[in-house]
Amino acid sequence: AIERTLSIIKPDATRRNLTGAINDRFEKAGLRIVAQKRLWLTRAQAEAFYAVHRERPFFGSLVEFMTSGPVVVQVLEGENAVARNREVMGATNPANAAPGTIRKDFAESIEANSVHGSDSPENAAIEIAFFFAGIEIVG
Ligand code: CMP
Repeated sequence: AIERTLSIIKPDATRRNLTGAINDRFEKAGLRIVAQKRLWLTRAQAEAFYAVHRERPFFGSLVEFMTSGPVVVQVLEGENAVARNREVMGATNPANAAPGTIRKDFAESIEANSVHGSDSPENAAIEIAFFFAGIEIVG
């Protein structure tokens, strides 16, 4: 089925001018960028977006990292978009990511791993609504 997923190009990638290279990976995989904006997240916004990880030992460092520079938040649309995007991203830890994936090719570390993607269609709907109004998504 045609799905939508929430993607974030993280500060390590915007800092290295990789937005276009990463978007090229998405488009070549058949994912359409149907909404996109560049933001500098506040601490409160990063804490709210990653609230599910609040008790994890890496939470404080993750919030620091995600507010260290601009991000590009986007909605990707396509057949099986949630799973397709996770394939294109590769494993969370770039050391475990398959060859040819975004994280294998671009990520700096398990934290500075260049991209975020929703992990389920249910969370995709929640994460898309966190960043975008319906009128901003043009399929
Ligand atoms: P993301 O897919 O955005 O979801 C949570 C983020 O926490 C993850 O990518 C990484 O950027 C970061 N992170 C840092 N350390 C870890 C860890 N040990 N396990 C999982 N995620 C981590």
